[in-house]
Amino acid sequence: MECRCPSDYEEVFSERAARATAARFRRRGLTGTSRTIVAQLTELGVRGSSVLEIGGGLGEIQVVLLERGLADFATNVDLAANWEREASALLDQRGLQDRVTRVCGDFVQLAPTLPRSDLVILNRVVCCYPDWRALLSHASSRAATHLVFTFPRPWLRPILWIENLFHRVRGRRFRAFIHPAPEMMALLENADFRPIADHRSSAWRTMVVARQPSVHPVT
Ligand SMILES: C[S@@+](CC[C@H](N)C(=O)[O-])C[C@H]1O[C@@H](n2cnc3c(N)ncnc32)[C@H](O)[C@@H]1O
Repeated sequence: MECRCPSDYEEVFSERAARATAARFRRRGLTGTSRTIVAQLTELGVRGSSVLEIGGGLGEIQVVLLERGLADFATNVDLAANWEREASALLDQRGLQDRVTRVCGDFVQLAPTLPRSDLVILNRVVCCYPDWRALLSHASSRAATHLVFTFPRPWLRPILWIENLFHRVRGRRFRAFIHPAPEMMALLENADFRPIADHRSSAWRTMVVARQPSVHPVT
C-alpha cells in the first residue's frame, strides 16, 4: 500500500528492519513485549473478536492472536509503509490475508475512520510518537473493551538520549520518548478504563486496561 508519511519514520523503520523482523518471527515466533502481550491476554482470558493494532509494524501479534483463536479479525495501522511487503508475504503464507486489513498513515489523523474494536494494542508505539495524549485518547475511543500498551521503563532515559543524539546527527526529526506513566494511566482512567494487569520486565512495562461501565450519567 502506498503511504504518505513523514520520511523519518520510513528511514527508522526501513524495509531492511522489516525483513529482519519477519525472519526473526519465522525463526523464533513472538519475542519480548509481543510475547508478553499475548501471554497476558491469554492468562486474563481476554478474547476480542476484533483487534486494532496501532503501529503494529509487521503484525506478528495479530497473526498469533488469529491463529490461536483469540481474535477473528484484525486491523493494522502504521505510519511506515516499509512493513507492507513483508506483512503481505507473511499473511499469504499463513492464509490470513482475508482476516487482516492493513492501513497506512498516522493513527491520530485516521482514528475516526477506523473501526471500533474489542481490543486495541499499542506495542512499543507511544515511545515513538511525541503527542502521547492524542495517541492514547484516540486509541481509547476505538477500544470497546480492552486496551494494551507497552512503554519503556524510566531508567532507559540515558539510552534513549543516546539514540536521539544518533537521530539528530543523521539529520532526522524522529525522536524516541519516555512519556510519564502516571499521566498516561490518568488519561485512560478518565476515559473509563481500569488497569487489570501491569507486567514489568527490566526494560518494558506492559499494561492491560479494561473499560468499566461509565460512572458519568448520560445527559
Ligand atoms: C518500535 S516500532 C514497533 C512495531 C511493533 N509494534 C513491534 O513492537 O514490533 C513503532 C511503530 O509505530 C509506528 N507508529 C508510531 N506512531 C504512529 C502513529 N501515530 N500512527 C501509526 N503508526 C505509528 C511506527 O511507524 C513504527 O512502525
